[in-house]
Amino acid sequence: MARPDRVTLVTGNPGKVAELRELLDPLGVAVVPDDRGYPEIQHDELRGVTEAGAGYLLATGLEPPFLLEDAGLFVSALKGFPGVYSRHALDTVGCQGLLDLLRDVEPELRSAAFRADLCYVDEDGTPHHFEGTCKGRIADRAAGNGGFGFDPVFVPDGAQQTFAEMDAAQKNALSHRGDAARAFVQWLSNQ
Ligand code: IMP
Repeated sequence: MARPDRVTLVTGNPGKVAELRELLDPLGVAVVPDDRGYPEIQHDELRGVTEAGAGYLLATGLEPPFLLEDAGLFVSALKGFPGVYSRHALDTVGCQGLLDLLRDVEPELRSAAFRADLCYVDEDGTPHHFEGTCKGRIADRAAGNGGFGFDPVFVPDGAQQTFAEMDAAQKNALSHRGDAARAFVQWLSNQ
């Protein structure tokens, strides 16, 4: 399989575009954003959401190769919530709502993980999945203006700052999306 020199990234999230560009640019793969959207089906696994999205995009005529990604924040004390419902949780209760849910939860019980499934649909229309995880904890209060989504309340393991207090390179080095993108890059560089 030939390595593409450009890949369409289907997302309406400029934060994801910036992060994946920074990761794929050095490989000579240009990321071209496309915000046409796709139905995010209800599924208990991230890869179920991207797999269905990939099928929809192919069926509706998007020319491969393309990438789509689904991510979520899984909070241990909330038994994995908001997880696959993270977008809805962000749009409704937001970062403050998450902090409120954890108000009386002790620091050692505030563990959480961001997870991402990056789905690459190759030029033949075959999906390939790359998973990434970033373990950490939910902060006591929101901090920082960078990143997007739940970044102001998430502190990755080994760090003292939230993702929103880091620059893009620092976040990418630790993040679930960076982890998934590095697995993709590794695979791509063997193609
Ligand atoms: P999406 O459906 O993959 O766009 O992501 C679902 C939700 O997860 C987003 O609306 C954000 O709330 C959250 N999310 C995903 N990735 C990140 C991230 O890197 N930082 C902060 N929040 C994120």
